[in-house]
Amino acid sequence: MKRVSIGLLGLGTVGSGVVKIIQQNGDQIARRVGSELHIKRVLVRSLEKERRVQLPADTLTTDPNLILQDPEIDIVVEVMGGVEPARDYILKALTAGKHVVTANKEVLAKVGDEIFTAAAANRTDVYFEGSVGGGIPLIMPLKEGLTANRLRTVMGIINGTTNYVLTKMTEEKAPFDEVLKQAQELGYAEADPSSDVDGLDAAYKLSILASLAFDARIPLEQVYVEGIRAITPADIESARELGYVIKLLAIGKERDEGIEVRVHPTFIPTHHPLAAVQGVFNAVFVQGDAVGDLMFYGRGAGEMPTGSAVVGDIIDAVRNLQSKVNGRVKMMRQDKPIIPIGQTTSRYYVRMLVVDRPGVLAGIASCFGQNDVSIESVIQKGKGEDPVSLVFVTHEVKHENMARALDQITRLAVVREITNTIRVEGEPRR
Ligand SMILES: NC(=O)c1ccc[n+]([C@@H]2O[C@H](COP(=O)([O-])OP(=O)(O)OC[C@H]3O[C@@H](n4cnc5c(N)ncnc54)[C@H](OP(=O)(O)O)[C@@H]3O)[C@@H](O)[C@H]2O)c1
Repeated sequence: MKRVSIGLLGLGTVGSGVVKIIQQNGDQIARRVGSELHIKRVLVRSLEKERRVQLPADTLTTDPNLILQDPEIDIVVEVMGGVEPARDYILKALTAGKHVVTANKEVLAKVGDEIFTAAAANRTDVYFEGSVGGGIPLIMPLKEGLTANRLRTVMGIINGTTNYVLTKMTEEKAPFDEVLKQAQELGYAEADPSSDVDGLDAAYKLSILASLAFDARIPLEQVYVEGIRAITPADIESARELGYVIKLLAIGKERDEGIEVRVHPTFIPTHHPLAAVQGVFNAVFVQGDAVGDLMFYGRGAGEMPTGSAVVGDIIDAVRNLQSKVNGRVKMMRQDKPIIPIGQTTSRYYVRMLVVDRPGVLAGIASCFGQNDVSIESVIQKGKGEDPVSLVFVTHEVKHENMARALDQITRLAVVREITNTIRVEGEPRR
């Protein structure tokens, strides 16, 4: 049986998963594919570190050239993370005619154009199923199975850490800081959690998903991002009373006037399929004009789930090598207008603390009215206390109008604080 030699760049969480899967299921994979997968060399930073997997002694190296310049290696798997030197090694591998598999959303979101251009110029392919949604097959359906559709919406929970934190805050009515600390102790959140909780990780992934769904170039700096640090148990309780749950959603929509790409906490109705996605699980909801509604659900991270996606890509690359084909699926990345966040429309939840006095509501309503913000409902909480809390839900309004109204409202003497503003998608069943 033929052997395909693989060079692995990185042997951390995902790299170890890749090795384990090939060691555990190698025989079955070889029978299915007709070639044996051979991990010839693995690049790491430190040769002294204890490893979770066993490999022959001379497999590990700290010299990238032993992989990038080895003519026997056909497939380079980048699972190091970060932009540099990952970008440099990927480009060198492509220039050397090797196929590249990566799980690195950051490098794709930031310099994907350069990488895909280099792949096309060198008649090689870049596979990236592991970069979004961990073990969930998402990239392949978007690139292949759904090609017949015009996709209008791709919307999902694509960061497990924030979904875990929001789920725990909901279940335990506990504040953000306390739940984040627990998540860090359990290994569900990094010591530096900012990339997850501030929404950046989800933004990288959304730029990849939206570029596939809408055949467009999605510059990362045009993805609007808000994280979950400001969410309080009071917001979660208000959401529950109104028939919603709060999720950090990554939303991509193609409208006639352009593409909307935004990541932010969102009220979604409890009956929405995404509302049922709990803990570290991920899910992506897609609407196609032919297929209708689809939802992809599963483990969005972790050694074995992400390893499953990466090994799946390796197998895809091997099959293309066997058939001597490349560039089968073109990366269509056209320049399309991205709608600035100020021009996007949403319904909003607004919670504020005000002095309990007659006429307060009229003053606030007038600020909303002057900016064309129409109110769907208002609830007052803690009557007789000082301050009291007011919860508004608006009808659809342009972001910039909402921002102007809130700016006027904060300047009213009777308003102590606007504690939160959260977008609302969909309506609860009445
Ligand atoms: N973890 C997940 O669940 C998950 C899920 C989806 C996607 N991803 C993506 O997969 C990639 C890898 O993530 P991970 O969690 O496996 O990372 P990780 O555990 O930190 O492992 C990174 C590996 O890369 C090696 N490495 C890093 N920089 C290097 C350099 N400059 N030269 C040589 N080796 C270097 C490290 O070597 P040492 O071991 O010697 O330090 C380590 O083995 C990232 O892009 C991540 O975003 C991860």
